[in-house]
Amino acid sequence: MDTVGGSRRFPDGFVWGAATSAYQIEGGTNLDGRTPCIWDTFAAEGRTRDGSDGSVAVEHRLRMTDDVALLAELGMPAYRFSISWPRAQPGGEGPASASGLDFYRRLVDELLDKGIEPVVTLYHWDLPQELEDRGGWPVRETAERFADYTALVGAALGDRVRRWVTVNEPWCASMLGYAGGIHAPARTEPGAAVAAAHHLLLGHGLAVDVLRSLVTAPAEPGHDTSGRAATAGNPVEIGITVNPYPVHAAGDRPEDHDAVRRIDGLANRLWYDPVLLGRYPDDLLADLSSVSDLAHIHDGDLAVISRPIDALGLNYYRPYLVRHEPGASAVSEWPGSPDVALIDPESTPTANGWAVDPQGLFDALVRVSQDYDPPPLYIHENGGAFPDVADVEGHVEDTDRIEFLDGHLRACHDAIATGVDLRGFFVWSFLDNFEWAEGYADRFGIVHVDYATQKRTPKASATWYAKVVSSNELVDP
Ligand code: FCB
Repeated sequence: MDTVGGSRRFPDGFVWGAATSAYQIEGGTNLDGRTPCIWDTFAAEGRTRDGSDGSVAVEHRLRMTDDVALLAELGMPAYRFSISWPRAQPGGEGPASASGLDFYRRLVDELLDKGIEPVVTLYHWDLPQELEDRGGWPVRETAERFADYTALVGAALGDRVRRWVTVNEPWCASMLGYAGGIHAPARTEPGAAVAAAHHLLLGHGLAVDVLRSLVTAPAEPGHDTSGRAATAGNPVEIGITVNPYPVHAAGDRPEDHDAVRRIDGLANRLWYDPVLLGRYPDDLLADLSSVSDLAHIHDGDLAVISRPIDALGLNYYRPYLVRHEPGASAVSEWPGSPDVALIDPESTPTANGWAVDPQGLFDALVRVSQDYDPPPLYIHENGGAFPDVADVEGHVEDTDRIEFLDGHLRACHDAIATGVDLRGFFVWSFLDNFEWAEGYADRFGIVHVDYATQKRTPKASATWYAKVVSSNELVDP
């Protein structure tokens, strides 16, 4: 790897891509026999900031072919997307939707035809409402249903897709959804959130086993963007994607350091330890026992959860600054830790208030590498929301986003230089889209979408990123 004249090359075979998720872009919620997911319900209950929902989103369900053509125009070597569970398997159990699965088959075929490597995420938060009605992730059955759904998708796509992510950001799915009430299904039940976390992990482990038996996709030279499979000898990459948050103390009292321990436990170790070490951290179990009897953890579960994985995805957005403050998080996404305050950063944040801190990405990469001896790492999401202003043509001169991405890619490069086995980077997001509880106000895309006309226009960041991708090195912003 070179650092010559300020330019930074990435290792040969580094996998560059862009990411999306089903509910955020597809729309077409009434097609393919699709049934509602928990986000349809969340939106119907008026819980999104702008009252919007994902019924139209950016019409990717209808515009898929053009969207793949645009990925190809940008020279994107890989594309990470998710499967909508209720589109693939309406109701969350029983047979697949033929046309639902066919949509994803066609998407994969379009991508492969254009030499773009598909990276498939099975669960990016769109739990079928029927399964939520039976208890959702806090009940064990949901993990079993997830394994069945994985089998349907694995059988349909396993001959052509070799990179798989079981679950995206189980912290958000469990803690924001079941403890904080901020995400669907908007529950504020700390004990249920703890059980949800476990069952998301169990679902992950079960899905790894299912995929292991179904994924046969070869690393075809034409479709192999990494150039690594031939030497690595294992063309299949099955893993999970988590969202690590470096946690810092805003204060120097012992209680502040204990707040760091607690939040680090919930945000980071709750996921890394079971998946990579096959156990839950004792201190965290002690914290959680104040809200849960932990009876949902059965003998043998951790062996399933810690099945070997081939890749670990990290989504990085920001670090946390915390301090002890009695009662500050009594009802929050931090079950078992009621006395922690999250402090707003002093730096200029992105448009949605998140701190800009590329150092945190470096720290997250180094930390997981040093503490866990993980499999190859991928940044599966990184990007920022900025106050984009489109001109009449729809063009956005988003120098702020370019600067953001440049800083974070430098952090990736620095981490690789210190020995971190980082194999790829996926920008969040390919397209502007439905940003969950925030609705459509926050724009993360490198491609602008005019929500009235659905016109796609690459932003300046897309042009810049395409140059980085094609040259495999950081070019001047
Ligand atoms: C992540 C989600 C993704 C997107 C970004 C901004 O937590 O995985 O869907 O919303 O945040």
